[in-house]
Amino acid sequence: MKKLVYFFLLIGLLACSQQNASSTFKSAFNGKFLMGTALNLDQIWGRDTLGIQLTKKQFNSIVAENCMKSMYLQPEEGQFFFDDADRFVKFGEENGMAIIGHTLVWHNQAPAWFFIDEKGQDVSREVLLERMKNHITTVVSRYKGKIKGWDVVNEAIDGDGNFRPTKFHQIIGEDYIKYAFLFAQEADPEAELYYNDFSMADEDKRNGVIAMVKTLQWQGVKVDGIGMQGHLIMSGPSIDEFEKSIVAFSELGVKVMITELDLSVLPIPKPNIGADVTANFEYMQEMNPYAEGLPDSVLQVQQQRYVDFFRLFLKHTDKIDRVTFWGVADGDSWKNDWPVHGRTDYALLFDRSHQAKSAVADILKMAKKR
Ligand code: XIL
Repeated sequence: MKKLVYFFLLIGLLACSQQNASSTFKSAFNGKFLMGTALNLDQIWGRDTLGIQLTKKQFNSIVAENCMKSMYLQPEEGQFFFDDADRFVKFGEENGMAIIGHTLVWHNQAPAWFFIDEKGQDVSREVLLERMKNHITTVVSRYKGKIKGWDVVNEAIDGDGNFRPTKFHQIIGEDYIKYAFLFAQEADPEAELYYNDFSMADEDKRNGVIAMVKTLQWQGVKVDGIGMQGHLIMSGPSIDEFEKSIVAFSELGVKVMITELDLSVLPIPKPNIGADVTANFEYMQEMNPYAEGLPDSVLQVQQQRYVDFFRLFLKHTDKIDRVTFWGVADGDSWKNDWPVHGRTDYALLFDRSHQAKSAVADILKMAKKR
């Protein structure tokens, strides 16, 4: 009799642990793809204890939301600031997480000095290449062997598929991208190297990125993956268009990553701004309809859309290496301040109290079935 009781107790315990094992993102998607989140400074320094608890429980990959961008790492020429980034990397190491570096070469959140001389004039191609090399080499070498992969170049292709006319492009020319990848490879030959961009489901952008990556590959440049920023809104992009890009990028022989995933429920002030961080619009009450709470009807539409996207990701686990949310909980999301400052958005899958929204259970169930 006693033996029988022990037996059922054991079965019960096993069943519980099974359920627990698949009741978090990182366990449910284990063997499929990594599940990541972006961390802000409050999380990196452990001030946001709830956010950190949630991160450790749910995610096995992290990326820094801001502190590894060049304006923070090298605010003045030759003066590097690594305190935040070191702490971020340490946190990832301590918790056995895949650490992603974001981002080496980006025209935004770059310090002004990077592109100009002491007279305020644009520097020459040679000087900018040298500064790029120094920045990449210093940063990538510091974390050599610790970072799984780097977003080497961010947002280099414009909405029409042509090169975005950034300072890097204007001063160096389109081969700045090639050099960025070469410098990164030299500094850490083992790290994966990615190209990352927004609006990647748009046909023109998709084709522009494919052409650029093909050129790099033809030149023998190592590109390991393409990051599709997943800054979704309720009206777009469609699952079909997003799928076309996952498939097309994968056909280049590179890994596909869904980076920066969030789904804003708020009205957009202007179509086609993608995730251009420089697009900023004045606050207006009517642009902030859910300040007092999100109606159930809207929440349900958002949750269904999240589930639909995860169904798509699960269909392509052979192509997708990682899915990373752009923030831990709703209160952390940059969507509360972009493209209109001071709004109340609900863009992530954990609410302001760090509770999982209903879609999480649906997504976990779906992952388990596959
Ligand atoms: C955003 C951060 O979330 C904000 O905190 C910051 O003010 C601006 O940048 N594409 C990217 C990210 O590659 O680095 C951006 O992050 C969002 C768009």
